[in-house]
Amino acid sequence: MKNLVLPVISLVFAFVIFDIAYSELDVKARPSVHTCSGECYENYVAANGTIVEQQRAAAEAAASASPAELGQQVYASCQACHGAGGEGGIGPQLQGRDASYISTALTAYKNGETRGAQSQMMWPSAQGLSARDIDNLAAFVESL
Ligand code: HEC
Repeated sequence: MKNLVLPVISLVFAFVIFDIAYSELDVKARPSVHTCSGECYENYVAANGTIVEQQRAAAEAAASASPAELGQQVYASCQACHGAGGEGGIGPQLQGRDASYISTALTAYKNGETRGAQSQMMWPSAQGLSARDIDNLAAFVESL
């Protein structure tokens, strides 16, 4: 019986070491997927609403936005070349153009047509625009 004491103590000691080591390892190697649950999630919902509420609010905001406001969002991809206020830069100045001028030009570029010497710079930008995007962009540029 006496010769069992040392192995048992060693075993308990080994388990303690193992437990400490792996409790640390567990946190690092497998972060919990549900890091925000319970009180954390309740706080998030109180501050931001549920995901469904957020989506509904975004849809309502989009539905009530004017064409110029929607165009402004699309215009983010044009700013680098035409300037934040349509003042021009790499591309020509757009400010001061009316909506029909803008939509005619964009439709031509969308169809791969050549207008000026640098039309190929507009083809990639115009290609992804829907007819509604073009109308909205035209309304936005006219409002500048
Ligand atoms: C990579 C730079 C670049 C980007 C991005 C770009 N454009 Fe242009 N844009 C140009 C250049 C260069 C021209 C002149 C093309 C030509 O010679 O026909 C031009 C021409 C135009 C014209 C015709 C202007 C005129 O007076 O004839 C319009 C309208 C226009 N761009 C609108 C847009 C809109 C709207 C976007 C965003 C969806 C956009 N562009 C993105 C460079 C760019």
